[in-house]
Amino acid sequence: MACKEYVNEIESTRRDLRALISSKNCAPIMLRLAWHDAGTYDAKTKTGGPNGSIRFEAEYKHSANNGLKIAIDLCEEVKAKHPKITYADLYQLAGIVAVEVTGGPTIDFSPGRKDSMVSPEEGRLPAANKGASHLREIFTRMGLSDKDIVALSGGHTLGRAHLERSGFDGPWTRETLKFDNSYFVELLKGDSEDLLKLPTDKALVEDPRFRKYVDIYAKDKEAFFKDYAASHKRLSELGFKTQSALLRSTLIKKTIAAVGVSITVVILGYLYEMNRKMT
Ligand code: HEM
Repeated sequence: MACKEYVNEIESTRRDLRALISSKNCAPIMLRLAWHDAGTYDAKTKTGGPNGSIRFEAEYKHSANNGLKIAIDLCEEVKAKHPKITYADLYQLAGIVAVEVTGGPTIDFSPGRKDSMVSPEEGRLPAANKGASHLREIFTRMGLSDKDIVALSGGHTLGRAHLERSGFDGPWTRETLKFDNSYFVELLKGDSEDLLKLPTDKALVEDPRFRKYVDIYAKDKEAFFKDYAASHKRLSELGFKTQSALLRSTLIKKTIAAVGVSITVVILGYLYEMNRKMT
């Protein structure tokens, strides 16, 4: 499909996702789907990442992905109307639309991800019952930073845990369909009887390098939105070269080649002149 045609198709897919996510109130599980497709990325081997491979049973059956078949099936309704859109783009667009329709920041979306036929091995996503060093290990493998970890964890402003899916139960915030900074506000209040805090959530308060961002985001929603939008974009593009990045690198290569040719011409001219003078 020509590039412009694909971009138009993306826009009408975006509209269908908006309608679907608003009418089914499924923003939380759509965001979790996008994150779990992307979060398997390994920067060293350049495997995993936002490549649609979570659509395969071999991957959605991983225990970390319990429940995500619901979101995969919902996306299938949109895929049926837009068969040319890759699963990889569809899932990432669904995650971005989920944040947007619940009142979160606008996240820039670059289309063009390719679908993979290969699922990564189980165990690449973070385990909720572990601490700060585990979180760092997993997100560093993806190529993401401490700031990304804290900002992205703010995604738990939406939705809830389900006992039958993860073994954890309950929501992190009081309004589970509203994307704001209340995850951080609640986190700083400490244990409460009716709101959830996973061990990995608590690690963000206990580890000083994480804590500094929690403090900022709890006080300043705009600062959270700005960092969240940037971190979410990075997550959604792990291992993916956007059209503009490809253009930039082609331009750089062409410039280097042109400069190389010019230098060669100047040197050859100089040598020719020298040679002419000596003979
Ligand atoms: C930092 C490591 C993370 C851990 C350990 C973790 C763990 C979990 C767990 C255990 C659940 C409950 C699943 C269920 O029982 O239905 C969950 C739900 C959720 N997670 Fe995370 N998560 C992490 C990061 C993220 C990130 C980066 C995002 C998005 C940017 C995210 C978005 C969500 C959402 C929206 C839900 C609610 C899903 C629903 O309501 O169905 N999580 N997460």
